[in-house]
Amino acid sequence: TWTMLNIVEESVEAVRRQVGDGRAICALSGGVDSAVAAAIVQRAIGDRLTCVFVDHGLLRKGEAEQVERDFVAATGVKLRVVDAADRFLKALDGVSDPEEKRKIIGREFIRVFEDEQRAIMADGPVDFLVQGTLYPDVVESGGGTGTANIKSHHNVGGLPEDLQFELVEPLRTLFKDEVRRAGEELGLPAAMVWRQPFPGPGLGIRIVGEVTRERLDLLREADAIAREELSRAGLDRDIWQCPVVLLADVRSVGVQGDGRTYGHPVVLRPVTSEDAMTADWARVPYDVLSRISTRITNEVREVNRVVLDVTSKPPGTIEWE
Ligand code: XMP
Repeated sequence: TWTMLNIVEESVEAVRRQVGDGRAICALSGGVDSAVAAAIVQRAIGDRLTCVFVDHGLLRKGEAEQVERDFVAATGVKLRVVDAADRFLKALDGVSDPEEKRKIIGREFIRVFEDEQRAIMADGPVDFLVQGTLYPDVVESGGGTGTANIKSHHNVGGLPEDLQFELVEPLRTLFKDEVRRAGEELGLPAAMVWRQPFPGPGLGIRIVGEVTRERLDLLREADAIAREELSRAGLDRDIWQCPVVLLADVRSVGVQGDGRTYGHPVVLRPVTSEDAMTADWARVPYDVLSRISTRITNEVREVNRVVLDVTSKPPGTIEWE
């Protein structure tokens, strides 16, 4: 729309004024906020922005490619990709406790990002850090400005506070729906623009139990099936998000094909919500649930049971970990 075009253009101008002829870096997460922020800054300063995408191996199917291929094609952003899946898996080895997982993922992320930052600064100084802070985040954190003021408990992109960067926050005055409209205006891939909320620690906190490569692979498949069927049923805009959770430490008896199995359950957790503070379980039509269940148990060999979470928040949280 005309107004959104104006907002984007004004924002590009403001970044140009702020950064001058300086350089900036930005960590991409695969989510819409960092993507739109980066796209705006790219328009303003071009190649003087370097984006870093740390692929921790905990994203959903197709999401890494979305960043590496589609986002770059749409924006022309200069991107460094770090395939850090092995490193994250190793650090998570043997860990089941959810908060421990979050801590490890956050810590590894910062380490990898710092290495990248050093490499980028070898080409010359970088004074600016781009962040996709939205208006509600600004309000929530007391409206502070200038320094690295990050809701560390939630974003895996939470960066260390001692980094001496000036923040560039082109989304500071926008709400989520405006960010999505800006993303469309900027021509970003629809899958990124309309991505439902997804936690920074990713699938790492959707495996109840230890995180292994095999478990990630099968959860990724089950999740992709659920997403595909919900989209096909036209439910994307009705459902706030639908975590698919692998109960890796639970086994149950089943019969699949011509034999008895002893596999894992996955939980479907479709919820409706306004802001994730409270939520209700989504009344997904039975036929859609049935298709998801049939496909997952047919296509993901290790899963022999699909169960539905019918708990509101409170008392349940949206995620299981
Ligand atoms: P809960 O599970 O607390 O989730 O009801 C509320 C919202 O926050 C997301 N979430 C996270 N996001 N890092 C994130 O970036 C996290 O560690 C994390 N934990 C939960 C969750 O997906 C939901 O949208």
